[in-house]
Amino acid sequence: MTPPRVPVHRARRRLVQLAVVALLSAFVVPVLSASPASASGPLRTHAAARGKFIGFAAATSPLANEAAYRTIAQTEFNQITAENAMKWDATESSDNNWNFSGADQIVAFAAANNQQVHGHTLVWHSQTPGWVQGLGATAMRTAMQDHIATLAGRYANNASVVSWDVVNEVFDENGGFRSSFWYNTLGQSFIADAFRYARAADPDARLCINDYNVEGINAKSTAMYNLVQSLRAQNVPVDCVGFQGHLATQYGFPSDLQQNMQRFAALGVQVRVTELDVRIVMPRTSAKDTTQATYYSNVVNACMAVTACAGVTIWGFTDKYSWVPDTFPSEGAALLYDANYQQKPAYTAVHNALDNGTSDTQAPSTPSNLTASGITSSSVNLSWTASTDNVGVAGYDILRAPGTSGGSFTQVGTSTTASFSNTGLSANTSYRYQVRARDAAGNTSSVSSTVTVTTTGGTGDTQAPSTPSSLAAAGTTSSSTNLTWTASTDNVAVTGYDILRAPGTSGGTFTQVGTSTTASFSNTGLSANTSYRYQVRARDAAGNVSAVSNTVTVTTTGGGTGGGCSVTATVQTSWNGGYVMQPVTVTNTGTSAITSWTVTFTLPPNHSLVGQWNGVISTSGGTATAKNAPYNGSLAPGASTTFGFQVARPNGDGNTAYGFTCTTP
Ligand code: XIL
Repeated sequence: MTPPRVPVHRARRRLVQLAVVALLSAFVVPVLSASPASASGPLRTHAAARGKFIGFAAATSPLANEAAYRTIAQTEFNQITAENAMKWDATESSDNNWNFSGADQIVAFAAANNQQVHGHTLVWHSQTPGWVQGLGATAMRTAMQDHIATLAGRYANNASVVSWDVVNEVFDENGGFRSSFWYNTLGQSFIADAFRYARAADPDARLCINDYNVEGINAKSTAMYNLVQSLRAQNVPVDCVGFQGHLATQYGFPSDLQQNMQRFAALGVQVRVTELDVRIVMPRTSAKDTTQATYYSNVVNACMAVTACAGVTIWGFTDKYSWVPDTFPSEGAALLYDANYQQKPAYTAVHNALDNGTSDTQAPSTPSNLTASGITSSSVNLSWTASTDNVGVAGYDILRAPGTSGGSFTQVGTSTTASFSNTGLSANTSYRYQVRARDAAGNTSSVSSTVTVTTTGGTGDTQAPSTPSSLAAAGTTSSSTNLTWTASTDNVAVTGYDILRAPGTSGGTFTQVGTSTTASFSNTGLSANTSYRYQVRARDAAGNVSAVSNTVTVTTTGGGTGGGCSVTATVQTSWNGGYVMQPVTVTNTGTSAITSWTVTFTLPPNHSLVGQWNGVISTSGGTATAKNAPYNGSLAPGASTTFGFQVARPNGDGNTAYGFTCTTP
């Protein structure tokens, strides 16, 4: 189980929270100075240029009272969500006793600054007064209808208010309906009713269902997917799905966010990130700031990549007013600005993701302290002090020149960490090394200082390894084959194998096509319908080479049209009664592009398909046939795509779908 990201119970905590933050800021001196913004132009300009919104959750008190807060609110954002002011407890604390002061304040601010407002939230189990929770079924439904009619109706003709969260957080973590007072009193029909009442109250508003822990593909998001699909099939007016996006660096990034958005988009709904924040375990460090910045760019990039994603709302913008410290003890610093309104790396990350990296011109710092260690007759280990960067270092280039002077430096490898091992060197030979850092926008640092290395003369070991034997090929496709052999032995140690290949079934010459440190090798990039011969030989650290092995001849498959495909399937989650297979990865193993694919597989007895995405699956008896979706049939040679599905199975049955094969077309 992933640790819960949002506690189930949320009380009304704003006042407590503000008091806590005020207390803390009186005593805690910030340890980090915020990094300077290299960014040019406010966030909203870049978002608008790409047809998206970038928004924030507004707290009414600083919006009314703090100039610094107001300035950022109006300059940087083109969308606002009320953090609390439109919730039931704020608007209708007792039956038909209305208070629109906070809601109106936010809508007026938005109108004055040309910002759109997303109404949050009409029906939720939290921050809803006791008088509602205690009603019987008929009265509760009426109260819900009145509330929606009055609140959504008030802004129906207001040009700023364009969308609503109609229901919020209706699922539990396993994908069942949350056992809220709404569900317990009215059953799941409250959801469809709420959407219909909202459509009646404001026919032009975009109506959303919103939840947390649904950013990735999992049981909860799949339940949401199934519900949205079924509601729309019944003409219930669900227009949009909100992914809250309360992320935490210690739980990892939901790396299938974009794919998840894409599967919802394929249902015909708009998607949006509604409450983004990325909390860290306190205290702040620059390493945590960097990780956090990466999460922010990942989310913005995912939204940019999905046409149906309307934009991203951040759950506040300054750490001075964030719900995180009060809700998640010892966590915080989740937003773009620190408590003194200084921009953090997260700001720059959002900015640069919105403008596609074009305005990040700041190069990483130069790697320093480059040192060599573990020098043998054929290898050296390099390490250096990591560079820093305003948005994050993406990697390092390793450069090498021959000898102790002269010659030119050429790139011999890359590393994503601050170390690199260079192998395959000659004994008794000098080399010079340098490294440089890169960021995601392609800015490179200056090169580090040079370190000169002379490999050892070897051990005087002149005994070659034994000859690799039993070379065999398996798993040959139209573009690849897998070689295995019996490992060699050596008086010191085998350090690796050279893989040699010759064209055809006879003639030609053997040339080296790769190396391996194990007794196997996969050779890819082959032509269909073509023969090749392979041999391997072993090496030791002193550079002694064995005789070559037996020769194995391989003929790749034809792939018919020149295209061919393979499939691998992964069980992502399973529970008593069901499972999700995701990703099911389809790869074009052929030499020419394909425009469609078909995967067949077997469903064990009494397993039934209950959800699917990024593919079109039909079943006949136990045989399932998955065809590509309209947008993922075209694959270049070597390219992959994925689809997924959810299956219901009898309780106690641990089997999963099997026998996946891929064919084209
Ligand atoms: C939070 C607010 O930020 C806090 O000020 C309040 O005390 C509790 O609610 N999911 C939602 C939001 O849909 O409405 C919540 O907002 C955060 C989690």
